Amino acid sequence: MPAADFVVVANRLPVDRVEGPNGEEVWRTSPGGLVAALEPMMRSAHGAWVGWAGQPDVALDPFEINGIDLVPVPLSAEEIADYYEGFANDTIWPLYHDVIAPPQYHREWWDAYVRVNRRFAEAAASVAAQDGTVWVHDYQLQLVPQMIRELRPDVTIGYFHHIPFPPHGLYAQLPWRDQVIKGLLGADVIGFQRAQDATYFLTAVRRRLRYEVKGSSVTVPTDDGGRRTAVARAFPISIDTTPYKELAASPEIRARAAEIRASLGNPKKILLGVDRLDYTKGINHRVKAYGELLEDGRIGVEDVTLVQVASPSRERVDAYVHLRDEIELAVGRINGDHDTMGHTAIRYLHQGYPREEMVALYLAADVMLVTALRDGMNLVAKEYVATRADNHGVLVLSEFTGAADELRQAVLVNPHDIAGLKDAIMRAIEMPPAEQSRRMRALRRRVLENDVSAWSASFLQALSDVRRP
Ligand code: G6P
Repeated sequence: MPAADFVVVANRLPVDRVEGPNGEEVWRTSPGGLVAALEPMMRSAHGAWVGWAGQPDVALDPFEINGIDLVPVPLSAEEIADYYEGFANDTIWPLYHDVIAPPQYHREWWDAYVRVNRRFAEAAASVAAQDGTVWVHDYQLQLVPQMIRELRPDVTIGYFHHIPFPPHGLYAQLPWRDQVIKGLLGADVIGFQRAQDATYFLTAVRRRLRYEVKGSSVTVPTDDGGRRTAVARAFPISIDTTPYKELAASPEIRARAAEIRASLGNPKKILLGVDRLDYTKGINHRVKAYGELLEDGRIGVEDVTLVQVASPSRERVDAYVHLRDEIELAVGRINGDHDTMGHTAIRYLHQGYPREEMVALYLAADVMLVTALRDGMNLVAKEYVATRADNHGVLVLSEFTGAADELRQAVLVNPHDIAGLKDAIMRAIEMPPAEQSRRMRALRRRVLENDVSAWSASFLQALSDVRRP
């Protein structure tokens, strides 16, 4: 495999190795918005992608798939438990999402995080061409930028943080708070979803390390007594809108949307939630608000159905196990109280679906409910908007998502305020077509203009500006 001028480093490869129906090993598109966001750009750049194949203890040689060179990084079962399920998803994830679940601090998890970050850095350093560019992604790999810089001072390093960065009062809890920001400052450009995330990061840098910060630039002292500049600012991520627009226009998908509506008993209004089953997504708040609307008699199951797709995620982390129990208990109770033979209150699907089926669901949905308590961006909101070519449909969007900075014409909600959430849902259900269309038109303009290629182009432009000012 030739050295790569452009290297993406992410916890996951864009494909997962999974067991097929007959016990054979097959590759499947891996979960999360990251893959969908970066894949189109990677294809055109002929780069390499360094990441984990999603299974324990598989050592695979680099290989090519759909025009991308993939470089698998092996993780042992113990490392998956300590680095991925532990430090990444039970320490950093809850701490960075406003401690919605309590973060766990364990020194063995941190040791595994350092060890695994070094392995990713070494893999990236070994495939990057002289003076190449390496783009590191997300909270699982916050130490990698500095580690790559030590190994390969010639390469330009970008880092993009897909999740929120917490306010200093929370960040300061992290026992390894100084090491993590030093790790990130190894990058030339550190990208965040919202301006607020960049501000919080810069505050942590100023308060913890006392480095000079001017606007979005940080003066970072180097080992040889010199100094370099790192830039930290917002680059709100988006989606590749083309497949969503195309699928939404396809007669087969439109027929499938009609079939979905019919299978739900052709209710007047379909509400839709689509999330990984995660405590940050506010699924329980949404279900509670909807259940109360039924209870209050403001809606009835013949007229309004909620479809909730909750795709399985991080199923061995305790907080996720408890969340699943909690949601399924609530959904079961509401359905038990309100279902009729012909109509269901909540059609709950603990499954992941291919993009075709998701687009059919988006087309079938009159109201999209995004009620996250905290979310770096939320690409589901943008996917829904991209499919609504007829300018109908209403997006109810939590203020606590990155998307809320851009999608101002959504019905914005505070999901903690159940009374307010109920009113917002009613407003969406009852919204006149002219208002739907005025709002959706503005939302679509925003999403279609600021797509994922505009996002990656602006990040890469900032990277070349800081390296060669
Ligand atoms: C979020 C994170 C991604 C992650 C995805 C799926 O979108 O920002 O880095 O890949 O969730 O989570 P998982 O733990 O399955 O990779």
